[in-house]
Amino acid sequence: MTNKYMYFIANWKMFGDLRTINTLDNVVKFSKSNKKNKFKIIYCPPNTLIRPLSKRLNKTKIEVGAQNCHENENYGAFTGSVNSKMLKNVGAKYIILGHSENRQSGETDRLINLKIKSAIKAGLKIIFCIGETLAEKRNKKTNQVLAKQINTGLKSVKNKSNIILAYEPVWSIGSGLIPNNNDLLKTVSFIKSKFTKKGPKILYGGSVNSKNISQLKVINIIDGFLVGGASQSSKNFIDIIKKTFN
Ligand code: PGA
Repeated sequence: MTNKYMYFIANWKMFGDLRTINTLDNVVKFSKSNKKNKFKIIYCPPNTLIRPLSKRLNKTKIEVGAQNCHENENYGAFTGSVNSKMLKNVGAKYIILGHSENRQSGETDRLINLKIKSAIKAGLKIIFCIGETLAEKRNKKTNQVLAKQINTGLKSVKNKSNIILAYEPVWSIGSGLIPNNNDLLKTVSFIKSKFTKKGPKILYGGSVNSKNISQLKVINIIDGFLVGGASQSSKNFIDIIKKTFN
């Protein structure tokens, strides 16, 4: 049983419409009934749902985040894009940056660094995703890859107090596979070693569900979980939170 403060972040990816928001009522009830509230829930829906979600969650402890943004901090002629201050304006308090699905479609560490800096300027808190591919893991390059993602992604970011790190092995996302506890402990310890003692919170993400949470929660240096698929069902998401503390 864990006693520490934990983060549970729902990454809805490109799922959900206006009706989906009703499913949050159960999560709101659950959050309110949990008087001790030793956890923070953050929902990161698609941009289209940020405003309605933040309205619905107004007066609750649940917060809303975005999933990505354009790197330009100002308005501009970038068809189809939104920047971090626009996301803040409609209710986002957090933003996921560096997600591997965006890295796979061409985002570089350098671009992610620009996005992080623009989002900090806009007053958003960053959920900064890092992780190795299966090939990199097999070639024992995990630490090297993570170090580069951290060093370039956070280059000249002086104040890291608004950064939360999410370690998400690429091979684990959506695959049903999770790292074994030994590897996970070693990797999260390595990530911690890249920061000073009061470094960022470190979450784990990748195929987290209400079954494997019992195994994952044992790693007590993890500060919470970034949940994709399983966060689309409020029941599964609540189960993950409950089981983390049982
Ligand atoms: P998953 O996604 O839980 O569906 O593996 C996690 C993520 O991509 O953040």
